[in-house]
Amino acid sequence: MNYIGSKYKLSKFIKSEIEKIVGNMKDKVFCDLFAGTGAIGRSFKTESKKVIANDIEYYSYILNQNYIGNHERLKYQSYIDELNVAQDVKGFIYKNYCLGGSGERQYFSDENGKRIDAMRQKIEIWKKTKEISENLYYFLLASLLENADAVANTASVYGAYLKNLKKSAQKELNIRPALFEVNEHEHEVYNEDANELIKRIEGDVLYLDPPYNGREYGANYHLLNTIARYDDFAPKGKTGLREYNRSLYCKKREVGKAFDDLIKNARFKYIFLSYNNEGLMTKEEVETTMKKYGRYDLVTTDYQRFKADKTENRNHTAFGTTEYLHILEKT
Ligand SMILES: C[S@@+](CC[C@H](N)C(=O)[O-])C[C@H]1O[C@@H](n2cnc3c(N)ncnc32)[C@H](O)[C@@H]1O
Repeated sequence: MNYIGSKYKLSKFIKSEIEKIVGNMKDKVFCDLFAGTGAIGRSFKTESKKVIANDIEYYSYILNQNYIGNHERLKYQSYIDELNVAQDVKGFIYKNYCLGGSGERQYFSDENGKRIDAMRQKIEIWKKTKEISENLYYFLLASLLENADAVANTASVYGAYLKNLKKSAQKELNIRPALFEVNEHEHEVYNEDANELIKRIEGDVLYLDPPYNGREYGANYHLLNTIARYDDFAPKGKTGLREYNRSLYCKKREVGKAFDDLIKNARFKYIFLSYNNEGLMTKEEVETTMKKYGRYDLVTTDYQRFKADKTENRNHTAFGTTEYLHILEKT
């Protein structure tokens, strides 16, 4: 998934820096507290004793229940095959987020909107009738989220849809499985505010990748939450927004205190924070806070990011940012 702030491309750098300091992860509990797509937790899943993954957004919880929580083989193929031939349904997504519906929005082609409704309803029925296990439910729902996102008619996020159906949105939605790593250990997945959860968990390595600017994930990915929850509500305004979480990490006046509380309450020996030079907290503010609680260090890497150009949605412009990895050994 093309996700704001995804660390997928930086995961090798982050993992190697963590291992340089912490050493072998075999007996260690690793926590990815702002897990998003789960990219960093996934890279420690087979090597650590346990991964704890958390995110305040529900779609992210589903993705992480699958990519991190699921660790035993599942028999899924017949269900994927059945989803791919499901009879179209004019359901909530079609009615509110496709041109053929009444909302005058075009987040998906009419055909794909009806396919999403059909697949989503089938998955729910299988769960309710106990045809599938909870693990398979997460797997199928994560697969639907990933593949629906790939045919969304947006420049990148769900803050707006495009006037005309772009090429990738014209493709027929088909489910490809959201494969996860099989391993022996059990993992834990949560859907909570980081500052609340931190009071109840403990481990060895805490990885923090909070939002670094004012863009709320709940607003930017509202449609993924809507597909994941598939609940009934009145979509608001032109974009069809739902009620969404507001994060303290997206607020200039609140982020400093929230971050300090988080570090103070963390019962982890090592803490790593990804943040960049465009963040709401300056490098010096982060350093000052972390130094209050132990030994501090910093590594950086220059990173080429791509920004979607709103007018020509496929033309991405490259620009460089400096990505910081702040390091704290709590004493
Ligand atoms: C920069 S993204 C993380 C990206 C992730 N490392 C990845 O590679 O996909 C920040 C994440 O923090 C989550 N988030 C924001 N505020 C939060 C909070 N108070 N508690 C938990 N998660 C939060 C967002 O939903 C978002 O997924």
